[in-house]
Amino acid sequence: MNMDLQIRISRKILRNPLMNASGVLGDSPDSIRLLSTLGFGCIVTKTLTWEPREGYKPPIIIPLKYGLLNAVGLANPGIKAGKELIDAAKEKNIHIAISIGGVNVDDFVRLAEVASDFKPDFIELNLSCPHTPGYGVDAAKTIAAIKNIVKNVTSITSIPIWAKLSFSRSLVNEADAALSNGASAIVLINTIPAMLIDPYVMKPVLTHKWGGLSGPAIHPIAVYAVYKVYEELEAEIIGVGGVESWRDAIEFILAGARGIQIGSALIRCGHNIVREIIDGICKYMAEIGINRLEELVGYAHKR
Ligand SMILES: Cc1cc2nc3c(=O)[nH]c(=O)nc-3n(C[C@H](O)[C@H](O)[C@H](O)COP(=O)(O)O)c2cc1C
Repeated sequence: MNMDLQIRISRKILRNPLMNASGVLGDSPDSIRLLSTLGFGCIVTKTLTWEPREGYKPPIIIPLKYGLLNAVGLANPGIKAGKELIDAAKEKNIHIAISIGGVNVDDFVRLAEVASDFKPDFIELNLSCPHTPGYGVDAAKTIAAIKNIVKNVTSITSIPIWAKLSFSRSLVNEADAALSNGASAIVLINTIPAMLIDPYVMKPVLTHKWGGLSGPAIHPIAVYAVYKVYEELEAEIIGVGGVESWRDAIEFILAGARGIQIGSALIRCGHNIVREIIDGICKYMAEIGINRLEELVGYAHKR
C-alpha cells in the first residue's frame, strides 16, 4: 500500500506532519539546510527577537533520565537574520515557519512586519517560553494580552499565524482567545517550568535557577493538552512534547493534531529519529489498513 502522509495545515499542504520544535536547531542557514535533509515536512526557526540575544551562561541544558531541563534564555541572532533562514529553506524547497518572540504587543507587531517581508509559510508566536523574563509567558500573561498580541499581529499580515502556548489551567480559554482573534493554528505545548538543586553545592544547577522541562516526561501532558483543545474547539493543532517514536507521534494525531514537532529527541536520540518515526507511522498505517494519514486526525474522539 502506498502511504499518503500529506497533511493540510493553515491552507498549505505539507508532505508529512513532522517538523522540528523551535529552538532545537534552526538558528543559522547551515542548520536550516541540515534540518531540510532529515525528512521533515516543515522547518521551524529558533525564536527570533528584535535584537540578537546571547542567552544565559552554561550550564543551560541538563540531560535527565526522562527528558531535558533547559534555560537557554532565547539566545538567537535577532530578527534580521530571519531572511537568510527563510531563504535557506526556500533553496531546499521545504516549508518554513519563523518563530518570533516579543515583550509586548508593539514588539510582536514590528517583529511580524519584518518577518512577513521574508515571506515564510507560517509565523509562530512564542507566547510560552517559561524562563526568559519579559518574553514568552511573561509577555502573554493574561488572556487579554494573548488576544491583543494575536489580534494586532493578524491585522498586519496575511501569513498564517500559529500561537504557541504552554500548559495551564486556562489553556482552552487561551487557545480560544488566539483562534477567535485570527490565529490559524495552536502549537501545544512549550516546556514546563522545572528546576534541579544539587544536594552538595546546595544551589540550583542551572545558572538561571529554573528552566523548562521537555522530552518524554511531558509527553502525556502534551497529549492531554492537544486532546482537550481539539475536543473543545476543533482547532488546527500542532502537538509538541516528548515525541521519540512513531507511537508518540500517532498519539498526537489521534488526539487531534495535524502537525507534530520534535525537539529534545533530536538531541537525545540523534537525527535518524525523524526517518524512524516516518517509517514507523507508515508500518502502523499498513497494519491498520489506512493509507491517508489525514483520516486519523482526531480519531480518538470518535465513538
Ligand atoms: C534547548 C531547547 C531550546 C528551546 N528553544 C525554544 C525557542 O526558542 N522557542 C520556543 O518556542 N520553544 C523552544 N523550546 C521548546 C521546544 O520548542 C518544545 O516546545 C519543547 O522542548 C517540547 O518538545 P520536546 O519534548 O520535543 O523537546 C526549546 C526547547 C529546548 C529543549
